[in-house]
Amino acid sequence: MAPLLRSSQPWVEKYRPRQVKDVAHQDEVVRVLTNTLETANCPHMLFYGPPGTGKTTTALAIAYQLFGPELYKKRVLELNASDDRGINVVRTKIKDFAAVAVGSVHQGYPCPPYKIIILDEADSMTEDAQNALRRTMETYSKVTRFFFICNYISRIIEPLASRCAKFRFKPLTEEIMSKRILHICQEEGLNLDPEALSSLSSIAQGDLRRAITYLQYGARTFGSYISSRELISVSGVVPEEVVQALYSACRSGNFDLADKEAKNVIAEGYPVSQVLSQLFDIIVQSDDITDEQKSRICKKLAEADKCLVDGADEYLQLLDVTSNTMRAICNLPEQFSYES
Ligand SMILES: Nc1ncnc2c1ncn2[C@@H]1O[C@H](COP(=O)(O)OP(=O)(O)OP(=O)(O)O)[C@@H](O)[C@H]1O
Ligand SMILES: [Mg+2]
Repeated sequence: MAPLLRSSQPWVEKYRPRQVKDVAHQDEVVRVLTNTLETANCPHMLFYGPPGTGKTTTALAIAYQLFGPELYKKRVLELNASDDRGINVVRTKIKDFAAVAVGSVHQGYPCPPYKIIILDEADSMTEDAQNALRRTMETYSKVTRFFFICNYISRIIEPLASRCAKFRFKPLTEEIMSKRILHICQEEGLNLDPEALSSLSSIAQGDLRRAITYLQYGARTFGSYISSRELISVSGVVPEEVVQALYSACRSGNFDLADKEAKNVIAEGYPVSQVLSQLFDIIVQSDDITDEQKSRICKKLAEADKCLVDGADEYLQLLDVTSNTMRAICNLPEQFSYES
């Protein structure tokens, strides 16, 4: 079937909720912000949690609902990782914006007497820049509210975090994900069979942006009927047989074989973090290894995942996980030498 010709607008933007009440699955923050719309009271906010769960969407929606399209530009400053947010910007642009007093205007929107500064991906700001923000936040708290958004709350310095109401955004459940996907399918005239819908919801692992992106990519490539297999092919999920081969090599106790499979993963260009995540699923579901063995392996997987986020070498991390999984499954001693 011919690929669909549609507007070039990304569906993640097209279907981004414009109102706080339409943000799915984040009930607590929706409740608090609905109250903000009624009372105009708003503390500084810190939204954190995994990608594609609605953090940016929620901040943009509340800012828009508070000020409306006319005032938005004057009252809301949005800065994300692609903007410079180093210490100089904090001292100049943010401070200047924060300092200007505003009145309360009524134009059919609450228009409270403060401005909003949205610092998206705030966990990529340097500690110096975050420290410089402390004073600005305090000095101008009467006329400015800060919204910090990040994936890793541990990378926000405590003095900033402690000044905010914190909300953790949860990964979306497969059920909620399926509902949103079905809605988009209806709007876009797509036909997704139940198997494809469930594959998409599970591949996305709680990240709705990912699900919507794969869906749009799938529609562009395969047309209005998209099968489960086609969705998997566009999703970057590592083929099951590749991960199974790695796992079998671990079970074999043969280091050379495990090394060969690890090298194959790297040579094929599969993302190692994705391989680890799929390996994790296999290990957790495996019923012929003990809980003790599983927990040893999971600990290693978690360590490797953290190292990858910090920029470690993919091959070395994969090899480390592989050899430790082998050690756990084959009950090899800690000091086991593969050459012996
Ligand atoms: N809770 C949600 N309710 C409704 N739609 C959502 C939700 N979460 C994500 N989406 C959809 O996914 C897209 C991306 O969401 P958003 O930009 O808010 O994610 P995020 O949490 O800021 O992610 P990141 O940490 O990667 O910046 C939105 O445009 C929207 O279509
Ligand atoms: Mg975001």
